Amino acid sequence: MEITRLIDQSSADENLQRDQFAIDVLTGLCASPKNLSAKYFYDDIGSEIFQTITQHQDYYPTRTEFEILNTIKDQLPEMIGEQEIDIIELGAGDGHKSKLIIDGFLNATCKVNFYPIDISEKAMVMLRESIPPHPNLTIHGVVAEYFEGLRLVRKKSTNKQLVLFLGSNIGNFDRVQNQGFLRNLWMSLNASDHVLLGFDLKKDVGVLTAAYNDSCGHTKEFNLNLLSRINKELGGDFDIDKFQHFGVYSPILGAMESYVLATESQDVFISALQRSFHFDAYEPIHLEYSFKFLKSDIDFLSKKTGFNVKAHYSDPKEYFVDSLWQVNK
Ligand code: AVJ
Repeated sequence: MEITRLIDQSSADENLQRDQFAIDVLTGLCASPKNLSAKYFYDDIGSEIFQTITQHQDYYPTRTEFEILNTIKDQLPEMIGEQEIDIIELGAGDGHKSKLIIDGFLNATCKVNFYPIDISEKAMVMLRESIPPHPNLTIHGVVAEYFEGLRLVRKKSTNKQLVLFLGSNIGNFDRVQNQGFLRNLWMSLNASDHVLLGFDLKKDVGVLTAAYNDSCGHTKEFNLNLLSRINKELGGDFDIDKFQHFGVYSPILGAMESYVLATESQDVFISALQRSFHFDAYEPIHLEYSFKFLKSDIDFLSKKTGFNVKAHYSDPKEYFVDSLWQVNK
């Protein structure tokens, strides 16, 4: 497996990244209400905690999507109809889901060039372990931001492309951002290329709430880890025991929202910012949106951003959809 790094892990880059983290924390904690960006969840510890969340009974999306992909993997090669295909995965994760799709194409005797794109080098290493070699498969990992990675792949190849954006990662964007993201994706692709997108559907609020408040406290740990990360990387003195996790569904937004709440009045000093931040008792910090969709929202989004829906693939309970779209140009 070849790896191209557009983000290198050199110390100069690391300093830049830490400065950006500091700026974003400053902006978020000066805002009212306070917020921190969900993109900072995924340091090495956060990625590991997320992994345990996905294996917990209460968190249905990962196993549901896995079931869907396992059911459709042998239909996809025919739906797409290419002898050789580039499969490009945005936010590669651990590769268990990508492996299913790759296997589907290999079983149909297609040639597959797999390009996982992720900002984390660690994700590439995990991938290598879950996807075994095959004579008709090449793997080229790209450590980069999504669209920079896509541009690199486009320069290397003239094959038809299938872009995977799974796991309802699209749910972290609000309903304006997701249109921008999809239109950007449309611009990066050629006519008749495909995308396979994972969307978490609107469902019973009890099921949603349990998924973001799992009974083992992994989600709580995941959220509080962001405060620990500030302590570690920016010299903060958050007392983690004085914050509680709160995950709640907002019907008006159609999203799960994650907060941490200060359980008492306190000041937190962050040395990289050379200042402290005051928290009143029960003051919230907003951490994450996880938007949920109706099938009609998905149809609307595809039309609005220049794609044709070729199929919606769902599970029997209709908890989740993997939607296959084709670029319309
Ligand atoms: C990785 C963004 C899809 O929103 O379900 C899981 C992140 N946050 N539990 C989601 C998450 C809390 C997850 N995504």
